[in-house]
Formats: sequence, structure tokens, C-alpha cells
Amino acid sequence: MKQWFLNHEQRYCVLVAKISNQICGWASLNPYSHRRAYQGVADLSIYIHREYRGKGVGKQLLLHLEAAARQNGIYKIVLFTFPFNQGGQGLYRKSGYREVGIFEKQGILDGNPIDVMIMEKLL
Ligand SMILES: CC(C)(COP(=O)(O)OP(=O)(O)OC[C@H]1O[C@@H](n2cnc3c(N)ncnc32)[C@H](O)[C@@H]1OP(=O)(O)O)[C@@H](O)C(=O)NCCC(=O)NCCS
Repeated sequence: MKQWFLNHEQRYCVLVAKISNQICGWASLNPYSHRRAYQGVADLSIYIHREYRGKGVGKQLLLHLEAAARQNGIYKIVLFTFPFNQGGQGLYRKSGYREVGIFEKQGILDGNPIDVMIMEKLL
């Protein structure tokens, strides 16, 4: 985790949400590709503690992460989500992300191939 955190300094930041001094979620920008042509594109991760979901924390974290991305010369965020992740897709659509398409059998989950949805937002 320490190494992961060290890799998320500067352009690819991690933001943490706190309520009453309690950490209730985090979101990070991650490198999308090492190729120079894609330097302005970042990948997104977000996770809210179960007790704090549905209270607007994810939306706020995403807003702040997008502001940090713009400040760091990132003009687009892409993300990859399981097609059944209604919560994630709800948050992303509400925040202006569009569905790009579906990778078929992109991953393996519990031993079974699984499709992955791609979404994006131009900042
Ligand atoms: C997905 C997740 C980050 C959403 O964060 P959150 O703090 O619960 O979301 P918010 O309360 O900020 O909701 C913002 C909007 O997202 C949508 N939304 C949130 N939860 C939803 C759900 N379960 N189903 C459908 N839409 C949902 C709503 O449109 C909501 O806006 P509204 O309340 O005005 O209607 C959170 O549920 C989570 O951490 N899930 C587990 C990890 C995960 O799936 N991460 C994404 C991986 S791709």
C-alpha cells in the first residue's frame, strides 16, 4: 500500500473524504498509459465505505478529483466498471460520464470471464 501511495503523488493524486474526522472514502487518478500521446488521460478509482454510501460523498470526491486532474494537465478521465455495478454507473452518469462500450470477456471474476464497461468524461 505504501508503494501504491507513493506512486500516487503529484499528477495522479489520491483524495480522501472525511466526516467528523472519520475517513469514509477515497478516490484516485491512475496512469492510463505510459505512452506519451496519452499523457492527458487518467484512469479513475473510487471507493466509499459502506456506511457512508448514498450520502453524496462519492459525488463530492469525484468533483474534487476532476478539479485536481484539470490543474495537472489531465483533460480526460476514463474508467472501467463491471456492467452490473449500478451504483458506480449511477454516480458516473450523474457526473457527466458517457458509456463508450463494452469489452467482452475482459477479466476473470471467480473463475468466470466477465465483460467490462468503459466510460469517459472530457474535463
Ligand atoms: C459507487 C460509489 C463510489 C458511489 O458513491 P456514493 O457516495 O454512494 O454516491 P453518491 O451518494 O455521491 O451518489 C451520487 C449519485 O450517484 C448515483 N448513485 C449512487 N448510488 C447509486 C446506486 N446504488 N444505484 C444507482 N445510482 C446510484 C445517484 O445518481 C446519485 O445521485 P442522487 O443521489 O442525486 O440521485 C459507492 O457506492 C461505492 O464505493 N461502491 C463500491 C465501490 C465501487 O463500486 N466503486 C466503483 C468501481 S468502478
